[in-house]
Amino acid sequence: PTVHHHEFVVQATKVKRLCKTHNTITVNGMFPGPTLELHNGDSLVVKVVNKARYNLTIHWHGVRQMRTGWADGPEFVTQCPIRPGGSYTYRFTIEGQEGTLWWHAHSSWLRATVYGALIIYPKEGTSYPFPKPKRETPILLGEWWDANPIDVVREATRTGAAPNISDAYTINGQPGDLYNCSSKDTVIVPIGSGETNLLRVINAALNQPLFFTIANHKFTVVGADASYLKPFTTSVIMLGPGQTTDVLISGDQPPARYYLAARAYQSAQNAPFDNTTTTAILEYNSAPCPAKCLTSKPIMPQLPAYNDTATATAFSQSQKSLRKVEVPTKIDHSLFFTVGLGLNNCPKNFRARRCQGPNGTRFTASMNNVSFVFPSSFSLLQAYKQNIPGVFTTDFPARPPVNFDFTGNVSRSLWQPVPGTKLYKLKYGESVQIVLQDTSIVTPENHPIHLHGYDFYIVAEGFGNFNPKTDRAKFNLVDPPMRNTAAVPVNGWAVIRFVADNPGVWLMHCHLDVHITWGLAMAFIVEDGVGELQKLESPPLDLPIC
Ligand code: C2O
Repeated sequence: PTVHHHEFVVQATKVKRLCKTHNTITVNGMFPGPTLELHNGDSLVVKVVNKARYNLTIHWHGVRQMRTGWADGPEFVTQCPIRPGGSYTYRFTIEGQEGTLWWHAHSSWLRATVYGALIIYPKEGTSYPFPKPKRETPILLGEWWDANPIDVVREATRTGAAPNISDAYTINGQPGDLYNCSSKDTVIVPIGSGETNLLRVINAALNQPLFFTIANHKFTVVGADASYLKPFTTSVIMLGPGQTTDVLISGDQPPARYYLAARAYQSAQNAPFDNTTTTAILEYNSAPCPAKCLTSKPIMPQLPAYNDTATATAFSQSQKSLRKVEVPTKIDHSLFFTVGLGLNNCPKNFRARRCQGPNGTRFTASMNNVSFVFPSSFSLLQAYKQNIPGVFTTDFPARPPVNFDFTGNVSRSLWQPVPGTKLYKLKYGESVQIVLQDTSIVTPENHPIHLHGYDFYIVAEGFGNFNPKTDRAKFNLVDPPMRNTAAVPVNGWAVIRFVADNPGVWLMHCHLDVHITWGLAMAFIVEDGVGELQKLESPPLDLPIC
C-alpha cells in the first residue's frame, strides 16, 4: 500500500462563468478541485491550508474513516473549523472500498465550489469485476450561482425565506453549450469507436437531485458510492446530491458528437427550481473537429421530465450488490426517523425581516421534529471524548416519534420543529435499522440522506407511510445495494441497516445543503469496543480547536 501526500491550498481565485468573473473559493486555483487517485488499501495525507477569508473544513464523502473519525471533517461535529490562516492535515486509509467517492468543504455553503473527485482503484494486484475500461473520466455535476454562494445562504438565514435558486448546472465546472458565454468551454469527453469507457458520475450539486443521460448511448451501471453493483443497463441515471454512480459506455454508435446532459429531478411541489440543462460532449476520435463540429450541433438526448419519479424509482430499484453481503438480521436498534421541512412561527423578538417564509414564517427542517443545532465552542467528538458537559444531549429524539402522515396532513403544531443538539448512542457492534420517512410537510421531496463513517444497506424503499406489518415482505436481505447516501423517495420511505463497527461521532443529514442549514440532521455516538482495533484513535496534535 502507498501513502499519498497532497497539499490543498484553499483561496479565492478568479473564475469566469456565465459571462461574469467571480472571486471563487477554490483548491489550488482549480475549479473543480484536484482529483485524488489511489488504490483500495492506500492512505491519504492531505494538508489543508486555509488562505480564504472563511472558516473551512474538508470532508471525504463516503470514506469510512475506520477509527480515524478526527479526519472526517464536518464542521463542529468531528473538528472545529480551520480558521483563515490556519491549516490541518487529514490522515486516513481506504479500507475495502473501490469505485468513486469525492471530497468537499463541509462548512456553510463553501462546497458549492470546493469539491473534487476521489477515485479508488482496485486493491493493488486485483482488477475490476468488469472488463478494464480503455479510458476513465470523472463527471462532476455541480450547481453554479451567479453570486457568492456564501452570501446566498447568509441571505436565506437572515430572512427565513428559501435561498435563491442556482443559475446553472455544471459538468466538471462548466455549464456548457446551452448557457450564455459558455460554449467554447464545453467539456469534451473523448471516445474511440469500439472502446468501452468508464464514467465516474458524482452529484456535487448543493441542493438538486439530477438526471444524467447521453444521446443514443446506453449506460451499463457497475457501481455506486464506491461499492460494485450487479451490472444493468439504462439510458438515464438519477443522483441525489452526494451520490456517485459508475457507468460503462461503449463507442458503438456512428462516429459523431453526442451530448451528455443533466437537469433537475425536482420532486418538491410548487417550489421554484433551476430548470436549465448542462451539457458536455461525447466526441468520437474519428469525427474530426472542427470540420464536423462547425456544420452540426451534437445530438441532443431526451431527458426525463423534471417530475419523473417513475424513472428515478426504476433506477434505484435496479441496484443490487455485486459482492456477497452480510446484512444484519438480528436488529438491536429499530429506529424510525422522519425527514422533512417545517415552518417555524416568528418569536416576538425576531425582527420581521427574518420571517419572510410563507405567511410570515421561516423555513426549518428536522428529523423526528428535532431541528439540529450545531455547537460552536467544541466539536461534538471532542465534547464526547473529553466529557465536556452542556454541548449535546443523548436523548434523540426529543419526544416519541410523531405519527406523521406522508400527505403532510398533520396538526399545524408539528410544522414547527424544536431546536436541539440531540445525539443517539450506540454500543460498538450493535446493529441498527432505520426507517427514513418523508413527512411531506411543506412539500413532499426526495431527500438524499447521508450517514458519515458508514456504508449502509438500503433494504427497501416505497411510497406512502411505511407499514411495519406489510412492508417487511419487501425487504431485500440477499443483495441490497450498499451506499452512504439514500435517496428517500418523495412521499415515501427507505429502510437502511448497518452495524455500528466504527467508533466516533457520525453526522447523518440531508445532503441538500439548504436542509442542513435548516436543521435536517442528527448524529450518532458509537462507543469504543474492546481492543485497539475497536477504538477511535487519539486526536491529531494539529486538530483545530474552537
Ligand atoms: Cu457529503 Cu456531511 O457530507
